[in-house]
Amino acid sequence: MATLLAPTGYDKFYAGGGWRYSRVREWWWHRKHLVRRFDLPRGLRMLEVACGSGFHTNLFCRMGFDCVGTDISATGIEVARQNYPGRNFVQGDATADLSFDEASFDIIITRGCSIYHYDLSGATALNMTRNLMRYIKPGGRFILIIATDLSGNKPVDNIWQNTLADYRAHFSKFDPQCTIDWYRRLAISSAIKAN
Ligand SMILES: C[S@@+](CC[C@H](N)C(=O)[O-])C[C@H]1O[C@@H](n2cnc3c(N)ncnc32)[C@H](O)[C@@H]1O
Repeated sequence: MATLLAPTGYDKFYAGGGWRYSRVREWWWHRKHLVRRFDLPRGLRMLEVACGSGFHTNLFCRMGFDCVGTDISATGIEVARQNYPGRNFVQGDATADLSFDEASFDIIITRGCSIYHYDLSGATALNMTRNLMRYIKPGGRFILIIATDLSGNKPVDNIWQNTLADYRAHFSKFDPQCTIDWYRRLAISSAIKAN
């Protein structure tokens, strides 16, 4: 997640191949910091928001989750479908209505969704989390994984390095018991949808 582009810029990026991830490294990282950390049983219905060209949606399916990927980039979704036939990908804007039933996912996960790289106290990020919470079953989880150096550096012309307190302030509006961790540049926030 080193580069951050405007949502429209990702079409070109994904057409050129997008990020190259190590399957082994990503598998073990997510086993440790996602599956074991949150004790997620196989078979959970999961929505990956901002799935890009689908690498992690496929990974989560291989881990035993019933995972659907969605992204605003039409090219990202097209490449995902080509790369991972048989997996379920849906193009959509996570700030607006998505074509899923409300309360139909146990987990929503998003890795590096662009909007969470900026102002977490602003209307855009808050509205997006509120919107996405609609698609989670009561008691289900919203999990965000995102790169930050924790410095609190917020330049006008680049992504923000939000602190864990920034992420906590954002997610505690949805779940006062939310958990926030940080592992080597990646913050992980988890909020539980109220019953
Ligand atoms: C830094 S990339 C992360 C991609 C992928 N999750 C990964 O970890 O490689 C950010 C992604 O957010 C997507 N995105 C930005 N705004 C979005 C929105 N409103 N709804 C859905 N996806 C969005 C972009 O299209 C892009 O694929």
